[in-house]
Amino acid sequence: MSINILNSQRNDIKDDESLKQLGFIELAKKKVAALEKELGRKPTACVVTFGCQMNARDSEKLLATLKLAGYEEVETEDADFVIYNTCTVRDNADQRVYGRLGQCSNHKKNNPHMKIAICGCLMQEPGAVEKIQKSYRFVDLIFGTHNIYKFAELLNSCLDSDRMIIDIWKETDRIVEDLPVLRKYAFKSGVNIMFGCDNYCTYCIVPYVRGRERSRSPKDIVREIEKLAADGVKEVMLLGQNVNSYGFDFKDGDSDKISFAKLLEMVCEVEGIERVRFMTPHPKDFSDDVIDVIAGNPKIARHIHLPLQAGNNEVLRRMNRKYTKEQFIDLALKIRERIPDVAITTDIIVGFPGEGEAEVDDTIDVIKKVQFDNAFTFIYSKRAGTPAAKFEDQVPEEEVKKNFDKLLKVVQDTARDQASKHQGKVETVLVESVNEQDESLLTGRMSNNTLVHFKGEKDLIGEMVRVSLDECHGFYYMGSRV
Ligand code: 5AD
Ligand code: SF4
Repeated sequence: MSINILNSQRNDIKDDESLKQLGFIELAKKKVAALEKELGRKPTACVVTFGCQMNARDSEKLLATLKLAGYEEVETEDADFVIYNTCTVRDNADQRVYGRLGQCSNHKKNNPHMKIAICGCLMQEPGAVEKIQKSYRFVDLIFGTHNIYKFAELLNSCLDSDRMIIDIWKETDRIVEDLPVLRKYAFKSGVNIMFGCDNYCTYCIVPYVRGRERSRSPKDIVREIEKLAADGVKEVMLLGQNVNSYGFDFKDGDSDKISFAKLLEMVCEVEGIERVRFMTPHPKDFSDDVIDVIAGNPKIARHIHLPLQAGNNEVLRRMNRKYTKEQFIDLALKIRERIPDVAITTDIIVGFPGEGEAEVDDTIDVIKKVQFDNAFTFIYSKRAGTPAAKFEDQVPEEEVKKNFDKLLKVVQDTARDQASKHQGKVETVLVESVNEQDESLLTGRMSNNTLVHFKGEKDLIGEMVRVSLDECHGFYYMGSRV
């Protein structure tokens, strides 16, 4: 865990709200110091993250506030302050949160000083907040996605009060810059380029819990990346629910209105940044200029995550994905042709209303034609409030399971074939960690996102090194330094 707290120098900060929150951190410091005196030890804090890279990035901001306030970070939930940063994209994500929260109440019984907070996407659903108010009364603080920037302020209120504090906003149009961040890795970082989603795919809850699309100004993004690079970061991942509609929300004529392709170029020019990733593009907005920029710029990772969701045209139409099976295949094959060494991964949902075996066979056909390097496969989960939840032709669980298993087998076979193609090549990897199973090994990540394990000393962590790919083990390689 990197202990670099970015942007905590007041003279660097442009955003008044961020300065205000730093003031609240100072206030919280006094309260945490008093608690430390009372406990006779440093108070501890644990941030539990569910869901996507956006949540992971948000959690780095929550943790920075807690650390600056004086908490010591711990990995387990028997801490003095526990915060759950939740996801609600599928029902199993919700259930995991409730399960963990239930267990956490046992810790609170043994620790009268303990505070439990819950935030993130699930909290933007009114039903979830009601459920917590009713059945999880031991929770001290609830807030949502739109006001996460005021966590320092809410932390103060929470430390002052014995009552449950709830602060949820329905929406926001503001972006707060320069909040303190505590990065998990010293050498790589996520960077938000936009927030929210305007696509309204009919199965998806995200537009309702993350709000309308809001792009950050390119100047702010580049400024953040310059600071990260100065702090030793070599790889950035540009984050957004729909990155290639970056800037669509800026007015025509606004000097900030640049395309995603242009932004990629600007980011690649930042000195010290050696690798640039992005997550997630939407196939409908994947324009040729983005393909050209990637093809012409070796700093941009040879990995494109291109969510397919389904391969049947009627299902795609009812999902409101705005592309056809044929358009998706053309795009993927064009990307493969123009960027020959690229890995294409995807997301697939099985069991959307009206999707039977014949429709799933269309998805399987796309998998075979595109030869995805990997795919995240999900069983459709009905989300209250989304249009698809009201569709009448919901598919029985057994049929979904059967189709899911059939599709998963094709995904796995294809991914294995694709991975084995690199055998014998020499690749540059960014060394990320010591291998969890064998301490003599390091784990590095290739530009195309494949992991390689190889012998090496841990002072190589954070370095780019050349490794030969000796043996393919399904989805990863055993290699050796060259
Ligand atoms: N059910 C199942 N999967 C979903 N996703 C989004 N909403 C749902 C849902 N209701 C998947 C999509 C998306 C990924 C992040 O989660 O595949 O790309
Ligand atoms: Fe959800 Fe579709 Fe937006 Fe992705 S693009 S977050 S699937 S609504």
